[in-house]
Amino acid sequence: MGTEKIDEILRNKGEKMQSMKEIMQNRYSCRNFKDEKIADEVVREIINLTRLTPSSQALEPWKFVVVSGELLKELGSICNNQPQVSGCSHAVIILARTDLQSKDEYLTRIITSKKKDEQKTQKYIKNVALKTDLLSQAELKQYASLQCYMALANLVNIAESFDVKSCIIGAFDYEKLVKFVNLKEQFKPCIVVALGLSDDVPTPKIRQSLEDILVWKR
Ligand SMILES: Cc1cc2nc3c(=O)[nH]c(=O)nc-3n(C[C@H](O)[C@H](O)[C@H](O)COP(=O)(O)O)c2cc1C
Repeated sequence: MGTEKIDEILRNKGEKMQSMKEIMQNRYSCRNFKDEKIADEVVREIINLTRLTPSSQALEPWKFVVVSGELLKELGSICNNQPQVSGCSHAVIILARTDLQSKDEYLTRIITSKKKDEQKTQKYIKNVALKTDLLSQAELKQYASLQCYMALANLVNIAESFDVKSCIIGAFDYEKLVKFVNLKEQFKPCIVVALGLSDDVPTPKIRQSLEDILVWKR
């Protein structure tokens, strides 16, 4: 990836920047990446913008692990030997975090970081915990994963806006991925995204018609 391109992306004002309409039409699941690597700064900027994704109760229950270099081979084998993983430039593993209960330091930390008033902070923590304290670990993972999927959608579209191609990877060996990530147990693998560059011409999208999926109620 050339320095001019990196500069254009980081300044976010390149002539080739795509409109939202173009991004939605042009993004596709790329399964044939070039050998050329994306600059780390560009991947960083993709995650930096993904960070702004909305989340339930503003809990941001996610972590992004970026994998590159030799480790992609191992990750590829964990992802059912899908060649677009071992052959990509960078892979992002989105982890759902489950430490969202009153006993967890993270819940206090994330809420305190957003509220200035001590009384309001305590009230907000109590309110969130009223819900999350009732959830099992599996339910917490499910709840956090829903937010991660929102981040995922933004991530692939932000990548496309920089002409970085992506492939969402949901097929992986969960236990092996847990070992690979090797983070504390509150971080649960949710989804993987392979990122890279490609010269492929995408095939036209086949989707249900608008009439088939849209219902007006008025
Ligand atoms: C949750 C999820 C999991 C997916 N897992 C895989 C996967 O493991 N391997 C793969 O090649 N594509 C995977 N895909 C990509 C879909 O097959 C693809 O998005 C769909 O066929 C539509 O094609 P498009 O993305 O090119 O528009 C996944 C997509 C989603 C949303």
